[in-house]
Amino acid sequence: MNAEDIKTVAVIGSGTMGQGIAQSSALAGYPTILFDINEALLKKARESIDNNLRLAVEKGKLEASKYEATKKNISLVNQLNEVKADLIIEAIVEKLDAKQGLFSELEEINDGASILASNTSSLSITEIASCLKNPANCVGLHFFNPAHLMKLVEIVSGHQTDPHHVDTLRRFSRQLGKIAVTAKDSPGFIVNRVARHYYLESLRLLEEETIDIESMDRLLRSAGFKMGPFELMDLIGIDINYAVSSSVYNGFHQEVRFKPSPIQRQKVEEGHLGRKSGKGFYDYSNR
Ligand code: NAI
Repeated sequence: MNAEDIKTVAVIGSGTMGQGIAQSSALAGYPTILFDINEALLKKARESIDNNLRLAVEKGKLEASKYEATKKNISLVNQLNEVKADLIIEAIVEKLDAKQGLFSELEEINDGASILASNTSSLSITEIASCLKNPANCVGLHFFNPAHLMKLVEIVSGHQTDPHHVDTLRRFSRQLGKIAVTAKDSPGFIVNRVARHYYLESLRLLEEETIDIESMDRLLRSAGFKMGPFELMDLIGIDINYAVSSSVYNGFHQEVRFKPSPIQRQKVEEGHLGRKSGKGFYDYSNR
């Protein structure tokens, strides 16, 4: 498939990442289907995309006519068998069996004709693809948070990924105004592997009671980082960040340098997931 052959896009999962990916795709002119198993979250995603677009118009960054066209490009669906598209990007939970189950169903629904791209942060593309009749159609397309603003995407080839799909996604990413880098299928790919230590060392300092959360965030911001580690984990979603740490840790055969923190596990068990749940390392109930 060539980039010109991508006429329709579908995004599965309308959470933190899915909504930004759908917005970027629709803004680039692609009719974009957005699907989620949770209808309330799907509606919330529509509102959030509308807000982002309206804000862009108010700031003079988007023409009013483009605002209307972008909105029209997004259609919400609540049945998986309505998800038919040339390119399908999944942004659901960071769990191998969930992603495999979803892609197997989508392969059937689309008669094996679609590119199945995963936004996974850390799972092996080769392993996700292993459940498919045609694993060559599976590829990693890893956006960064917030997906409608961040320019970088990592395109990840599994062992059997068709190299034409990598080319196609490179051109598709360009259409979205993104900068694509290709990466081999290795735990955490590039950015998440390097960034792991930003989170894990900060969590260790917290475990050791060397410094408190606010001071650490302030310190690292003043050192030039755009966000401190704890506010960043709240933005990402602590459940997702913990799942990625666990996956990278297991991917490197439990190397101690990637060991996940019990502090994060406890937050996940308490349901304190960050901004999306209203509470994480910080409280967002009044914001
Ligand atoms: P999230 O928890 O905000 O959203 C996940 C969404 O998927 C939810 O709306 C949920 O209802 C839906 N969902 C779950 N299972 C589903 C299924 N079987 N079919 C359809 N919808 C389903 O998660 P987030 O943060 O958007 O992460 C999604 C993926 O993107 C993960 O693989 C994560 O590793 C990756 N990612 C996350 C980043 C982040 O900063 N949060 C950055 C880059 C990648």
